[in-house]
Amino acid sequence: MKQYKPLIDDWQAFKHACKRPALSTVRKNSIRAGKNFEERLKERFDEVEQSGWNSEVFRLPGEKTPGKSMMHWLGEYYVQEESASLPVQALNPEKDERILDMCAAPGGKTTQIASKMENDGEIVANDDSSRRLKSLHANIYRTGSASVSVTNYDGRRIQENRKYDRILLDAPCTGEGDRARRKFEPADQYEKKNLSELQKQLGEKAETLLKEGGKMVYSTCTINPQENEEVVEYLLENTGLQLEKIEMNPDHRKGVNSFEGNQYGQEMNKTVRIYPHHFESGVIYVAKFRK
Ligand SMILES: C[S@@+](CC[C@H](N)C(=O)[O-])C[C@H]1O[C@@H](n2cnc3c(N)ncnc32)[C@H](O)[C@@H]1O
Repeated sequence: MKQYKPLIDDWQAFKHACKRPALSTVRKNSIRAGKNFEERLKERFDEVEQSGWNSEVFRLPGEKTPGKSMMHWLGEYYVQEESASLPVQALNPEKDERILDMCAAPGGKTTQIASKMENDGEIVANDDSSRRLKSLHANIYRTGSASVSVTNYDGRRIQENRKYDRILLDAPCTGEGDRARRKFEPADQYEKKNLSELQKQLGEKAETLLKEGGKMVYSTCTINPQENEEVVEYLLENTGLQLEKIEMNPDHRKGVNSFEGNQYGQEMNKTVRIYPHHFESGVIYVAKFRK
């Protein structure tokens, strides 16, 4: 990861956080959470702390298996990293809207959208991997996310006969900031380039599927700017999308303006990078657009 040192706000803290185990966090599911959710969570787990910027998220320090509880099986909460809850917070879906989650499996963010809308509206959860659709279906069922219908297209081929109020593009990426998948190992240039191309194509398609005035959030769990700021810059130059400032204020560093000789515009200050030392979680990059 040393090559990314210029991108990191506190290199020592970053290095140490990458070596520590992730902090377990759960997100309340408003559809299934019963009465006194927080009190029962505190009875079930030794330590419970509410997140300072997202009141739906609870940290469980010292807990290793938050998925092994009756509250989880009943769908009262979803096990989700604190940083991973940012894209949907930024998307800010509202009741009665039509939402597309373009790359949805296994459904962490789809079920978060359904929870925020309290199942009032229409959510299309798409993913091109039929294997991963199984876990998407299971999570939709467990969380009671009845407003969700599932489709199985390559996102670049979704038909344009319906337009959406908001679109989440939680893009396939190299996952350099995904602790479980890659243990913070950098990806090779070939993989980064291929995924960057796919991300740009998915972003262009998302723009055509968005209503005028609609909102689109782009997110990845990777560090390199090729899959983040470069994709955002491409979309600004080649589509009718404009960047919007993300109004949440979790600990973060702003998107970068340059890296290894490549310049990205000042606009990148409106995008957000969260690193492992900010929340003891994985990396996330988030950009919000308006059409
Ligand atoms: C980062 S994961 C999505 C995680 C999910 N949003 C969540 O929060 O649980 C990216 C997903 O993109 C899917 N994917 C990859 N290429 C795709 C494509 N061309 N069209 C649609 N989905 C694709 C993968 O199968 C994978 O499930």
